[in-house]
Amino acid sequence: MQEELNNIVASVREKAPTIATRAEFEAYKATVSGPKGSLTEVLKGMGRIPQEDKPAMGKRINEAKTAVNSEFEAVLVRLEAAELAAQLGPDIDPTLPSPELSRGIIHPIAQVREEMVNLFRRIGFSVAEATEVETEHYCFDALNIPSDHPARDMQDSYYLPDALKVSNVSKHADEKYLLRTHTSTVQIRTMLKEKPPIRIVAPGRCFRRDTPDATHSANFHQIEGLYVDKEVTLLNLKSTLDHFVKTIFGPKAKTRLRPSFFPFTEPSFEMDFYSPDLGKLSNKWLEIMGCGMVDPEVFKAVGIDPEVYTGYAFGMGIERIAMILQGVDDIRYYYQNDVRFLQQFA
Ligand code: PHE
Repeated sequence: MQEELNNIVASVREKAPTIATRAEFEAYKATVSGPKGSLTEVLKGMGRIPQEDKPAMGKRINEAKTAVNSEFEAVLVRLEAAELAAQLGPDIDPTLPSPELSRGIIHPIAQVREEMVNLFRRIGFSVAEATEVETEHYCFDALNIPSDHPARDMQDSYYLPDALKVSNVSKHADEKYLLRTHTSTVQIRTMLKEKPPIRIVAPGRCFRRDTPDATHSANFHQIEGLYVDKEVTLLNLKSTLDHFVKTIFGPKAKTRLRPSFFPFTEPSFEMDFYSPDLGKLSNKWLEIMGCGMVDPEVFKAVGIDPEVYTGYAFGMGIERIAMILQGVDDIRYYYQNDVRFLQQFA
């Protein structure tokens, strides 16, 4: 019996290191410790052993079992390590250049916004911001927009429910909250906070009820400009806008002011520009912003003396300028988050 055990252990020691797969391992293990395995057969012989030899024999059998199990254990450890290595693939060489990372890009609208804001920063404007939720007072009344103005219609603006509480925007009177329809709200908020001279640009998101099409979106962006000081004139406005247009669209671009109307500026203009280097849009007058001299009524609403100070203001849609610069013919592309579109502006 001792010899049988020795043989079993010896043959397991010889065979185990050559086992290459789990299936082979299971099959071999069965021939040793399975119900009909060689070691099991020896155990079954215990019954025939004289009583006094049993303790010694039992000890031998346990030693043999331990030896066999530790061989099997080693096989499993080796097979598992091989399986893991197969899953992980070949070794990595840390000295190789790293694979291409798929990096995000700055959104094309944000790229144009930054370009415009930086331009104005360089000529002395700072950046102002305010909330997208507004009260009628800041969006309309303080800007001299009368209560029968079409922009105030439910069909044109997004009013918010009466019960809504907005902790960082307080109401003046019995009025409604709405999503701001233009960034001109920032003119008012800035003039209430700061004393002239004031020179700010205010980029931000605006909302108007609109049926989306190639040039309309209910959600869009504007940049507002405001300059208030003593003796600010239309010439200052015109020269600043010339500089803006020439920087953004090239030195050959020209500007023109057409008389228009806004309740918060007087006189008011639409500014058009024209450039010989704009591809399909070359040599056409394109309207890109509203502007004018700050209306004295607006100064009164914010407590600035219109006898002492004058100012100009302008406001333009960022999408409109982005579309011209980037050759995009449908505003909706900007909001669809299609990487094939976005990556073109990397
Ligand atoms: N707020 C106006 C608009 O949204 C644009 C504007 C701004 C006009 C400032 C004049 C002065 O259409």
